[in-house]
Amino acid sequence: MSKKITPPDIVEMKRAGEKITMLTASDASFARMLDASGVEIVLVGDSLGMVVLGYDSTVPVTMDEMIHHAQAVRRGVQRALLVGDMPFMSYQSGVRDAILNAGRFLKEAGCDAVKLEGGAEICETVKAVIRAGIPVMGHIGLTPQTAGQLGGYKVQGKDADSARKLLDDARALNEAGVFAVVLECIPDRLAKLISGAISVPTIGIGAGVHCDGQVLVTHDLLGMYEKFVPSFVKTYVNLAPQIKEGIASFIKEVKTETYPDPEHSFTMQVDVGELLKK
Ligand code: KIV
Repeated sequence: MSKKITPPDIVEMKRAGEKITMLTASDASFARMLDASGVEIVLVGDSLGMVVLGYDSTVPVTMDEMIHHAQAVRRGVQRALLVGDMPFMSYQSGVRDAILNAGRFLKEAGCDAVKLEGGAEICETVKAVIRAGIPVMGHIGLTPQTAGQLGGYKVQGKDADSARKLLDDARALNEAGVFAVVLECIPDRLAKLISGAISVPTIGIGAGVHCDGQVLVTHDLLGMYEKFVPSFVKTYVNLAPQIKEGIASFIKEVKTETYPDPEHSFTMQVDVGELLKK
């Protein structure tokens, strides 16, 4: 295994002009595959509430659910930086809650850092969490936990005022001490401007090619979440039809007694007829 990646390594990658990759995981098997593939950051994103737990949004996700999944992911990750996503109401309720909940990601799940959604308004919280010794990643633009307030799952920063606010938010987070900022669903030229204006890396999702890195929800990139596919997602492998085909074959072979065949069965040394006589 090569050296474990730390937040300063991620900042250094921006300085060196090397693109950063981040993907989500919610279980140990996927975490192991991501880590072995060489992704630099594994995010236990609260998107798992939708793609794994079946909620309609990320809002219902609890701290206990996040810790449970983060613990599993930790068992599969050796090299990548492991970031735990703070769920809705785990930090909005106050600085003390934020520190204690961020601390749970490190103490109970072995995460290396946490991610918080929000801009200038959460900077005091961000600073307090960092002062407690916990590295923080920011997340601005389309922030799914407060999508309702933003008018739904829409591109942010399209007009001058909202673009200016996002630039100010990114600068405030940079100043507060985050080691990276996720930019979600913003125009590519605004992402370029923000990336040039802050010293820490930007990690884009629906934010164009000029970000310092890119993140996707792994279920989306592998075509495993059919309920909704955002337009910025590139499906690199479309697994859902292949999974369904495999399952349909299993059902058919069981019904027709084609599976298990002798190759997938165990043989016995003694004659069964002899056994019954004893
Ligand atoms: O929850 C998540 O998966 C995220 C990424 C999309 C950045 O926050």
